Amino acid sequence: MKMFLLVTAAVIVALATGGALLVFREGQVPKSDIASLEGDADRGAYVARLAGCIACHTNEAGGGELLAGGPPLKTPFGTFYGPNITPDPIAGLGNWSVNDFARALRHGTSPEGKPYYPAFPYTFYSRLTDQDVADLWATFKTVPDASEPTKPQQLKFPFDQRWALRGWQNLFFESEPYTNNPAQNELWNRGKYIVTGPAHCGACHTPRNLLGASDIEQALHGAGDLPGDERSPPITPADLLEKGWTERNLAFGLRFGTKPNGDVLGGSMGEVIRDGTSWLTDEDLQAISHYLLNNNDTE
Ligand code: HEC
Ligand code: HEC
Repeated sequence: MKMFLLVTAAVIVALATGGALLVFREGQVPKSDIASLEGDADRGAYVARLAGCIACHTNEAGGGELLAGGPPLKTPFGTFYGPNITPDPIAGLGNWSVNDFARALRHGTSPEGKPYYPAFPYTFYSRLTDQDVADLWATFKTVPDASEPTKPQQLKFPFDQRWALRGWQNLFFESEPYTNNPAQNELWNRGKYIVTGPAHCGACHTPRNLLGASDIEQALHGAGDLPGDERSPPITPADLLEKGWTERNLAFGLRFGTKPNGDVLGGSMGEVIRDGTSWLTDEDLQAISHYLLNNNDTE
């Protein structure tokens, strides 16, 4: 109990300090010209697969409608629910502009200026290109309205204090677009964009600190504390090679859910494959595999 109180106190101090820094950052969301881009709904459907939007925002097991709200997502901080993001004007995003949408995805901030919890992987989506965001928006507008109200998040104190997330964002989040590494080829860069951006592989494969922020020093080194008490294995080049992965069988495994020894990739990875990577083009699977087996940087 004492330990719990200590941790709680540390959390509050950290968040409040971060919150105080807010004064210097507010209003710094740069203007983007996404509204001038033409969105392609078919391409957006592909990006939605790549980014896993559907799984967290559709309660498939509970018979929910498409994007009308996600299943419970149990974490050490409490239970999260992905909101209704259909175009419904009351329950969903009906009144949003594409810029509101971009701000939510890349800056973790609502149209009213409220910070979002990082259970919504905006720390990864901040790398989405303007075109990917415009395409996603074009797709989302084609989804039928659903009037299911968004469920409130059920978090433990002090994590239920949404205002404190500003502090969290100040301490742990910098919205940065992806920049190509000129020392690497196009395939590698596409792979890194996918892995560290839309596909947010690190959300499960990179450990988090006590406040739920990714430990970048340990990027892709595997993590515990996943929803449902799962653990993810490390997926650094050395670990993958040791387990018999090659660029070829990794691209195959991400399509068909098999390991080099023929076992099945299960648990939440099975879902990532079923709903996400199994739908990707051969080129994108090659890009992911090439990057994972040849990434010697720490992101
Ligand atoms: C791992 C689960 C997860 C994934 C994947 C995910 N989301 Fe979410 N999303 C959430 C949660 C949880 C929230 C609510 C955060 C909060 O309450 O602070 C959220 C919030 C949002 C919001 C804000 C809604 C509102 O009413 O303010 C939008 C928009 C959104 N997500 C769009 C997307 C899109 C687009 C994708 C894919 C690119 C996506 N999400 C992928 C979990 C997820
Ligand atoms: C929702 C959490 C989650 C996400 C997101 C996720 N993974 Fe996984 N991953 C897991 C878990 C859990 C396992 C262990 C599965 C098993 O052992 O059956 C795993 C296993 C793997 C393995 C097998 C490693 C080994 O030891 O043989 C690879 C490769 C892998 N993931 C790659 C990826 C890539 C690439 C992405 C992004 C496209 C990704 N994962 C996203 C949870 C996740």
